[in-house]
Amino acid sequence: MKMYDLINKKKNKERLSREEIEFIVKGYTEGTVPDYQMSAFLMAVCLNGMDHEETAALTVAMAHSGDLLDLSRIHGIKVDKHSTGGVGDKTSLVLGPLVASLGIPVAKMSGRGLGHTGGTIDKLESFPGFSTTITTEQFIENVNTIKMAIVGQTANLAPADKKIYALRDVTATVDNISLIASSIMSKKIASGSDVIVLDVKTGSGAFMKTLEDSLALAREMVQIGTIAGRKTYAVITDMNQPLGNAVGNTLEVIEAIDTLRGEGPEDLLEVSMTLASYMLVGAGVAKDVEEAEKLLVQKLEDGSALNKFAEFVRAQGGDSRPVFNTELFAKAGLAEAVTAPKEGYITYIHTDEVGMTSLVLGGGRETKESLIDISVGVKIHKKLGDHVTKGEALATLYANDGNKLKEAKERLLKAYVIGENKVEKPKTVYAIVTRDGITSF
Ligand code: URA
Repeated sequence: MKMYDLINKKKNKERLSREEIEFIVKGYTEGTVPDYQMSAFLMAVCLNGMDHEETAALTVAMAHSGDLLDLSRIHGIKVDKHSTGGVGDKTSLVLGPLVASLGIPVAKMSGRGLGHTGGTIDKLESFPGFSTTITTEQFIENVNTIKMAIVGQTANLAPADKKIYALRDVTATVDNISLIASSIMSKKIASGSDVIVLDVKTGSGAFMKTLEDSLALAREMVQIGTIAGRKTYAVITDMNQPLGNAVGNTLEVIEAIDTLRGEGPEDLLEVSMTLASYMLVGAGVAKDVEEAEKLLVQKLEDGSALNKFAEFVRAQGGDSRPVFNTELFAKAGLAEAVTAPKEGYITYIHTDEVGMTSLVLGGGRETKESLIDISVGVKIHKKLGDHVTKGEALATLYANDGNKLKEAKERLLKAYVIGENKVEKPKTVYAIVTRDGITSF
């Protein structure tokens, strides 16, 4: 087999066999297929798509490209959650400690930022000393003792995805249903949890911009998870504006802490509670979402979830003092407001551009090798449906570099559309997809 022929086949909209897909994945993982050929192949997939069988074959090949994590030494039903990627999406930092504080083992594998979206690992590195490169032994031990651990994708867990993910990030090949579904599900299958709750984002800041595409992605992933023997739920949530108000690594950690203290934004709380509820239902701890929510609210209100977050940070080598005093986090040196050029209502937000604003400030990666600046980002003051007067602040930018700040200001201004007529605020949660079908809200 030759990689050239397989690229050509996909370019000509032909179907690839399981063996051909295995050849590509193995070759790229081992280095016999170079980045430039893989980039061309990924672009051909973006343009011409893959069917269900090709997507399933890609998922299995990526999941088996390295070790499969054996979590059988963790007591109880293990739950995990994964987002398809959004702007200001810090739900893992809220729901992880919440679910763990109920004694349910949260064995989570997280990623770094991708394209205009952020990643949990980059955010957690706001805590000095915090490490997600813990050994499997330590991971299992932490989940057994404190009920929560988050690892990065270790070198040998779905290594094919790790390499492909980094390549997609810089070759504009992220937003394809088959590539997203196989990327997420290969990791989830390799990392061994029993229950998988997927947060499928929809809207201007998501990789899937329409509800229809988001539902198709959700169905694809639920089907793959179910075939792999995992209880899989997908919750379709809004990404037509950033989730919460903070975008940027440390700023998002602070907002998650505020939420665990009962002082966070409502949309972030609602999405986190909904996802956490399905984790509880999947684990068999609650019979339905209503019962799950009652249990979760109790843990939020009595401070257990906040304490659990600090315990988790400490267990992975981090300084947990900022959990109780966020002033201790390193801060960006510059802060500047972006103001409204005219009076009106916020009618549309190019949310991916808000994500790019944070990236331009240094909060995300422009190349595979880029180092990120965790302290920079955006604080949103106006969201969809809000009224603004001329000169009122739409957002505040936090930066460490004057030139980047200038570019970011222009970018953010273009992200906002101000119109004359008030628009309705979007729903926060649109639908739940399970193996039995779709429930819309
Ligand atoms: N998250 C992933 O892990 N992979 C994707 O492709 C998109 C979001």
